Amino acid sequence: MINFEFKNPTKIIFGKGEIAKISREIPQDARILLVYGGGSIKQNGVYDQIQEALKAHTVYEFAGVTANPEYETLRNAIAVIKEKDVTYLLAVGGGSVIDGVKFLSAAAGYEGDPWDVVKKPVRPQEGEGIPFGTVLTLPATGSEMNSGYVISRKETNEKLGAGGPGLFPQFSVLDPEVVRSIPKRQIANGIVDAYTHVLEQYMTEPSSADLQERFAENILISLQQHATKLMEPEFDYGAAANFMWCCTMALNGLIQKGVVTDWAVHAMGHELTAYYGIDHARTLAIIAPAHYRYNLETKKEKLAQYAERVWGIAEGTQEEKANKGIIKMEQFFHSLGIDTKLSDYVADYQDTATRVKNAFINRNWMGIGEYKRITPQDAYEIVLRSC
Ligand code: NZQ
Ligand code: ZN
Repeated sequence: MINFEFKNPTKIIFGKGEIAKISREIPQDARILLVYGGGSIKQNGVYDQIQEALKAHTVYEFAGVTANPEYETLRNAIAVIKEKDVTYLLAVGGGSVIDGVKFLSAAAGYEGDPWDVVKKPVRPQEGEGIPFGTVLTLPATGSEMNSGYVISRKETNEKLGAGGPGLFPQFSVLDPEVVRSIPKRQIANGIVDAYTHVLEQYMTEPSSADLQERFAENILISLQQHATKLMEPEFDYGAAANFMWCCTMALNGLIQKGVVTDWAVHAMGHELTAYYGIDHARTLAIIAPAHYRYNLETKKEKLAQYAERVWGIAEGTQEEKANKGIIKMEQFFHSLGIDTKLSDYVADYQDTATRVKNAFINRNWMGIGEYKRITPQDAYEIVLRSC
């Protein structure tokens, strides 16, 4: 097991009706900016619960953070923070709103061009940045219990990640009741995003970190087992609760400790969102199978272990099991209504592999993935195979 340090300071408040507790978590004298998205919180009752909980606090609002949070929108929020002298941020939404708030936390007090915060990037240390909490409305990204974020900038076709130890939420409320109003398309996205987060931290090479590997495998199994109920029209609280907690545990730092991680699927996937606006999770479903097939030689032991332990595939050589595992993964994504080829989403996809290769070269990303082995040319080959 590789040496590691682990600290995750986010307090999780989990369960039905727990949104009311935010009033205790935010200082009474705080000047709060409530940040949310396109308005789903006004339709599902979450906004009313927030208003009720914070009726004794000073609260300003910033609405309209889009999916794949846009830099230009967030710049307007920085102006509000300065104008109102905001001292606390409250993100109420999915990964996009939470990521947007992390950026605001880091960028509001930054003297130079706010885009530097993402591009350089600037890494806030503990105690730096505006403190913030979250009320999660869409299980998927794990942003509610990690310190990373991803921001898009349409003007330059960029989608870039950043973060820092100062960007953990102080608290996150996880009320599975919010899952009731999520469209099935977004639930499918959430399952696939969390599933791929586990794969990125697992599908590398055999490790001696047995506990982390088994945690990872059990998150995958839980997501698979609850997926059917989650996709049915009827709301199931137990399935929603397990889904929510799986998504958080998939990316709160725990399963990556002591092991080698990949993240090449996300790096390539972000390009597809930047060029075509494809939902984040769907870009992962496009890239992951091609990535694992292309890197079969270095990943086959783990792929075979995945096939055995997660899908119960006992027959065949290591290579056969590895290949069957990838097919099972694709079938699982398809069972959620998620297509796994770029050509299923975009008609004009022919130059995508070249664009990705050139973008990586321009950013000097000469090696990504575990051991930085994936060169821009490899990315080209993988994206080509994902078309
Ligand atoms: O904007 P509103 O009206 O709220 O609607 C949202 C949005 O349209 C809707 N929604 C959210 N909760 C709902 C709901 N609709 C009905 N009922 C509810 N309870 O869902 C839509 C999508 O929301 P969004 O926040 O964009 O989705 P998600 O949570 O999948 O976030 C995706 C973003 O997170 C980034 C992605 O790249 C993408 O930009 N990621 C962040 C990560 C992190 N910080 O650790 C890791 C991930 O790998 C990912 O990259
Ligand atoms: Zn993701």
